[in-house]
Amino acid sequence: MSRTYPIAVLPGDYIGPEVMAEALKVLRAVAAKSDIAFQFDEHPVGGAGIDAAGKALPDTTLAACEASDAILFGSVGGPKWEHLPPAEQPERAALLPLRKHFGLFANLRPGICYPALTASSPIRPDLVEGGFDVLCVRELTGGLYFGQPKSRQTLPDGDIEVIDTMVYRKSEIVRIAHVAFRAAMGRGRRLTSVDKANVLTNSVLWRETMNEVAKEYPEVKLDHLYVDNAAMQLIKAPRSFDVLVTENLFGDILSDEMAMIAGSLGMLASASLGQPKGDGLYFGMFEPSGGTAPDIAGQGVANPIAQILSAALMLRFSLGLEAEAAAIEAAVRSVIQLGLRTGDIFTGAPGTRRVGTQEMGDAITAALP
Ligand SMILES: NC(=O)c1ccc[n+]([C@@H]2O[C@H](COP(=O)([O-])OP(=O)(O)OC[C@H]3O[C@@H](n4cnc5c(N)ncnc54)[C@H](O)[C@@H]3O)[C@@H](O)[C@H]2O)c1
Repeated sequence: MSRTYPIAVLPGDYIGPEVMAEALKVLRAVAAKSDIAFQFDEHPVGGAGIDAAGKALPDTTLAACEASDAILFGSVGGPKWEHLPPAEQPERAALLPLRKHFGLFANLRPGICYPALTASSPIRPDLVEGGFDVLCVRELTGGLYFGQPKSRQTLPDGDIEVIDTMVYRKSEIVRIAHVAFRAAMGRGRRLTSVDKANVLTNSVLWRETMNEVAKEYPEVKLDHLYVDNAAMQLIKAPRSFDVLVTENLFGDILSDEMAMIAGSLGMLASASLGQPKGDGLYFGMFEPSGGTAPDIAGQGVANPIAQILSAALMLRFSLGLEAEAAAIEAAVRSVIQLGLRTGDIFTGAPGTRRVGTQEMGDAITAALP
């Protein structure tokens, strides 16, 4: 019997709607090849929300998200709304409330450098030869960014003192550990936990907890790296990693480093997951790692691959459609292999051809197995 999945579709601003159209095209083609159906409920968010309803996250948009199995998000913000006060800026007023409202505590970013695209990576060719595929799992709602107290004060001697507090509860570490171990189970079964256990009390609990949770996943090989070493190893030997798991601040920095060494922002998907639903699946929000690219918006040249791969992550983590997710990822790989390139990944290399957003979406749709 066919099953219908309700999906909240929030394209956002500038290139958001352009790349989202291609992701929906691919999803419709996936549905047509199987006995599933998607019910897309499209709503404005970010600048588009401000223009349509006076705020970045309109009530109707939030209600649609609540009624869905997952949120497929484009990206928000841009020059049109930059004059607004910081608290009303599209990113801050849409993304953060969505993360908070749905308790999205796990951020997953696959850093994939495709063998045919190693020239786009800024690191030495011999270190990325054959490409690499690392999944970074970042804790998103704890640690230094949210810990209390936070303060700034001028001391009696005139000096200024600032305080940020790093706070984690064991339960927060346990839940992100399970996300990371489960993700590793579906991949190469190797997990690297990144901490600073030689200095931070937080990290000592982090490491203890990772070791404890590891007992529930005997098939996964767990190792630990200090964050400074992890930053070096990612550049020196990106191929040696499978899944990385780390706390909020370290993850913020390492996931950007990984995105950089992988090549183009237009290729990188991300998933933000909330509490597991009990069946191994999560409510989540799925979006490209990059922003709204106002510099190329409206020209039909944006790379839709990050949005399309975000849709694949949605199928895997929120809907449990692993075969369909893998089919999309295989189609992307084969189109890259065929030499199709949007401007951001086009180098003029022999055997490659420059294409626009729609042609890339069409080619990926046609390449679905
Ligand atoms: N999650 C989000 O919604 C999110 C994330 C980051 C930035 N932003 C917002 O996006 C706006 C622009 O930010 P920015 O310029 O710093 O970052 P950006 O990621 O939008 O662009 C950086 C560079 O990467 C290129 N790029 C990004 N995505 C691409 C794609 N799919 N295809 C081809 N090229 C691509 C852009 O053309 C630009 O040259 C800002 O308003 C920012 O606040 C939103």
